[in-house]
Amino acid sequence: MENVFQSQHPLVQHKLTKLRDKATKPKKFRELIREIAMLLIYEATADLALDETQVETPMGIASGALLREKIGLVPILRAGLGMVDGVWEMMPGAEVWHIGLYRDEKTLRPVEYYNKLPVDPTVQVCLILDPMLATGGSAVATVDILKKWGAQRIKFVGIIAAPEGIQALHSVHPDVPIHIAAVDKCLNEIGFIVPGLGDAGDRQFGTG
Ligand code: PRP
Repeated sequence: MENVFQSQHPLVQHKLTKLRDKATKPKKFRELIREIAMLLIYEATADLALDETQVETPMGIASGALLREKIGLVPILRAGLGMVDGVWEMMPGAEVWHIGLYRDEKTLRPVEYYNKLPVDPTVQVCLILDPMLATGGSAVATVDILKKWGAQRIKFVGIIAAPEGIQALHSVHPDVPIHIAAVDKCLNEIGFIVPGLGDAGDRQFGTG
């Protein structure tokens, strides 16, 4: 599907396999989320714009390039939080804007509970971070919020998607590239990705 990028990197696949393992404890789980996020962001940012510049080294002048656009990291609470640190290390100048959404257990529709975006957009590129793209409702709602805010470019970076989630996000927001480590088989009757990894929030925070 156009605008859907599934990582083929062996390190991503290796770490993803460890992440899925039900025996993986929260500490290791958080480390893996962080590491996979760093690898995925490397791929997701390959087309960021650069401004050419020059830099003075101890030996002379070198030509170089610096990021042109201001980047915003937008983790969807809670599970997206674990993807922030590693990505932020790669882009320490990024702003972090949290969006709080939870899925209503019955309707599976996202409910917004935290949004402190200022009136005008402060970044040009928004990178939404959320390990799970299940029905796609949370991702669609977050893109809606960011577009209304005035974000010019938005990308979704996740770890595991259900085909239903990819379809939902792509059909409502086809301009938003989806970067993902794996596309699984399906959703089950309670909206969990199968085989997936269980509840990414609970497994990170030890609340399962
Ligand atoms: C999970 C996950 C996504 C959402 C995906 O969060 O982290 O945000 O569900 O589902 P969707 O694609 O069907 O919207 P959850 O609502 O469990 O909240 P939590 O991260 O706070 O545990």
